Amino acid sequence: MQLSKVMGHRGAALLAPENTLASIKAAAKTGVKWVEIDVYPIAQGGLVIFHDDTLDRCTNGSGVTADAELKTVLSLDAGAWFGSEFSGEGVPTLEQAIACIQDLGLGLNLEIKYEGTDVEAVVPPILATLTALWQDPEMLMISSFNYPALEVCHRLNSTLYLAYLVEDVPQDWQEKLSGIAAYSLNCDYSQLTETQARAVKEAGYKLLCYTANTTDAVKDHWQWGMDAVITDDPNQFMHLES
Ligand code: G3P
Ligand code: MG
Repeated sequence: MQLSKVMGHRGAALLAPENTLASIKAAAKTGVKWVEIDVYPIAQGGLVIFHDDTLDRCTNGSGVTADAELKTVLSLDAGAWFGSEFSGEGVPTLEQAIACIQDLGLGLNLEIKYEGTDVEAVVPPILATLTALWQDPEMLMISSFNYPALEVCHRLNSTLYLAYLVEDVPQDWQEKLSGIAAYSLNCDYSQLTETQARAVKEAGYKLLCYTANTTDAVKDHWQWGMDAVITDDPNQFMHLES
């Protein structure tokens, strides 16, 4: 994998409305090489780029995201809440986001945002879309808090770069990472300890931390072995990329 030290979070969530094409473009403008976005499964197999369990915060719609119909979600305004200059910005489909990210030459950390148990139905269409459209496997990471979803990814394609997402590092992290031949552990920077970080690195995994928006927040983490930071504002960290 061609990992860089900085990854834009939800595109660049401090610079433009999160998880929109505008946010991905804003990230690219900072010079960042990778973006993280959330793919959210909705009604009847729809796959959209969205973070929340309800539509209320980031669109002019309302209701439960998972129950929404694709045509409804695609008709919503996902930009005006952030700023009037973004009004008219929509919720992207997975296909649209992939096309945009590849056009910009960025790497993709695709987080599977799914808390349900039906991973056998939900995950294969996501992988099928990636297989059909994503070109450079060295610039693709799949991450999730949903471990069974990652197990399905691993079973269907053992060459994928998988990242196990956690808040606090769990006791059984090593077993979990080895169970899916993970590439990395992606954890909350504010909960990580030096001992945990060093153990993860010693075990041979990459270590990514989210969501840090100042260099101060993760100043120790680089010394502990952190490989990359996931940030809402890549501008804060671009001096680290060369
Ligand atoms: O990938 C890191 C981060 O995106 C995980 O948390 O809630 O922002 O999707 P969240
Ligand atoms: Mg995410």
